[in-house]
Amino acid sequence: MGIKEKFSVKGKKAWVTGAAHGIGRASALALAEAGADVALMDLNTEGLEETGNMIRERGRNAIVFTGDITSEEDVKKAVNEVLEKWGRLDIAFCNAGTFQDIPAEKMEVQEFQRVVQVNLTGAFISAREAGKAMIGNGGGNIVLTASMSGHIANIPQCQCAYNSSKAGVIMLGKSLAIEWAKYGIRVNTISPGYIRTWSDIPLKPEEVGTSNFEQWTPLRRFGAAEELGALIVYLTSDASSFVTGADYLIDGGYTAF
Ligand SMILES: NC(=O)c1ccc[n+]([C@@H]2O[C@H](COP(=O)([O-])OP(=O)(O)OC[C@H]3O[C@@H](n4cnc5c(N)ncnc54)[C@H](O)[C@@H]3O)[C@@H](O)[C@H]2O)c1
Repeated sequence: MGIKEKFSVKGKKAWVTGAAHGIGRASALALAEAGADVALMDLNTEGLEETGNMIRERGRNAIVFTGDITSEEDVKKAVNEVLEKWGRLDIAFCNAGTFQDIPAEKMEVQEFQRVVQVNLTGAFISAREAGKAMIGNGGGNIVLTASMSGHIANIPQCQCAYNSSKAGVIMLGKSLAIEWAKYGIRVNTISPGYIRTWSDIPLKPEEVGTSNFEQWTPLRRFGAAEELGALIVYLTSDASSFVTGADYLIDGGYTAF
């Protein structure tokens, strides 16, 4: 197999959570451009429909499912719909997540639990249901979105629940990789740095590199969601056939600094 074929996911059936915006949308489009049909899940129906149309414009099929990754019922329904319509699931990008910025001494337990429930428990529920489908297929590829905040504690924002949940996602990925290697399922995590998904308005050229977050990043800029797509295609294609239980930092050098 040549190197271009190794990076192809032609004919594969993929499922992406958090696909209405940001990293999830950009990665769903990258998977479609690399040849996959992509099922999309998110709480945001309007954004999902937009992503679905963008996939169809690229000549691939899309299934759109509005649902919450913390609901076992929703996640089971979404994966079952993929199996009913497409007969198999080859790729799962469990990416949906939430954030908080509250000093630890002021944070209610409910808020801590909300963040862990979405970021860690939601990733587990999504990966478990995808894994069950893939065991039925005889194999597959799962990627979970962690964060560089699962490795380091950022400043100045106070995000102890987020950081803890994302450190948990890294170990969840390693644990599933070990358990499911025997089924031919590879599981990896990605740990992005500051990816500018919080705004859809591009920075003016003179604004690039001016924030503290960018100056603390050796490449001196925010990452773009599209820059994650290539890594997702790599991790879910045969190009990474010997990679499992790994975590990929994609942070412009932030954690090396
Ligand atoms: N942007 C960054 O700098 C950055 C850095 C590291 C990690 N991450 C992680 O990347 C992932 C994607 O974030 P993004 O930056 O693209 O943000 P985003 O807000 O653009 O996208 C997140 C999507 O997840 C969806 N979502 C949230 N909770 C959900 C739930 N319970 N069920 C279903 N969908 C839900 C949202 O509706 C949204 O469309 C998250 O896990 C985030 O923690 C982001």
